[in-house]
Amino acid sequence: MSLPVHLQSRYLPLGDQRTGRLYGQDVLSVSQFCRDDLEYIFGVAEAMRTMVAHIGTVDLLKGKILANLFYEPSTRTSSSFAAAMERLGGSVIQINEVRYSSVAKGESLPDTIRTLESYADVIVLRHPETGSAAIAAQHGRKPIINAGDGIGEHPTQALLDLFTIREELGTIDGLTVTMLGDLRYGRTVHSLARLLSLYNVRLNYVAPEILRMPAELLEQLNAKGVHQAEYDTLDPVMAETDVLYVTRVQKERFADISAYDAVKGAYVITPETMARFPSRMALMHPLPRVGEIAPEVDSDPRAAYFRQMEFGLYVRMALLAMVLGKA
Ligand code: CP
Repeated sequence: MSLPVHLQSRYLPLGDQRTGRLYGQDVLSVSQFCRDDLEYIFGVAEAMRTMVAHIGTVDLLKGKILANLFYEPSTRTSSSFAAAMERLGGSVIQINEVRYSSVAKGESLPDTIRTLESYADVIVLRHPETGSAAIAAQHGRKPIINAGDGIGEHPTQALLDLFTIREELGTIDGLTVTMLGDLRYGRTVHSLARLLSLYNVRLNYVAPEILRMPAELLEQLNAKGVHQAEYDTLDPVMAETDVLYVTRVQKERFADISAYDAVKGAYVITPETMARFPSRMALMHPLPRVGEIAPEVDSDPRAAYFRQMEFGLYVRMALLAMVLGKA
């Protein structure tokens, strides 16, 4: 996502900032990060993981309040941000169903943000419209963390995805990452591809014709010299794949349900599929899954998706601590 010009000075690569990394800043797009920032975030996330394992909860953010504002359904992002805040000793205002808030009476996003920042120190926002997090940041004084803006970006998911790849395979440079499924509407793959472009990787995109990766994103990464290749079947890329990142076909983004029905079962990962991948690789999925990965695959040691969602807690703890100036 390109940031509006009036916001760009707020999102210099973090290494260029004069204050602590991320302190007081919004997290809107992966475009705001450089590799050095990522290493720092992952270091803090590792410390959070150790802390949770040994102590469980600390008082680092005692007295701080998170407003968790979700205009779209969520299990992982919403609950992991809430758990992250509570594990750090803070409190949470949870608005999971905006229809029970004044949004149902027609309140605008800027007014809702102005309201919540009167009570909270940081706002996590999921919204169906691309660019909504940037609009919220434009109208707000407190940090906004983008928890998914339509088909735009899901930057905190991409951070936890990268953390997972590092944990599972020990490196990111030199890997071949194959993204499978709904690459058109899947905001997680949009953010992950952009973040991976900071590394020396090869990206394969496997999707039905109508769900191909957006041309704009392909061009952006092409201009950066990233090796990218598109396919409509997994067969040619199985042997070279280090990470297979599977996504759900996003039914809620289709205007024509018959078009959804035509592609919804296009790819299903089974134990037979997994037998054709290298013995050392990682199978990832942002979840929820709705049939793209058979439950029989869950016991495969390469199935990393449940570990991946756990890592989201540590990465989000790191982000909250950093944004609030405590890391
Ligand atoms: N991966 C992810 O964003 O999951 P939720 O929709 O459950 O938050």
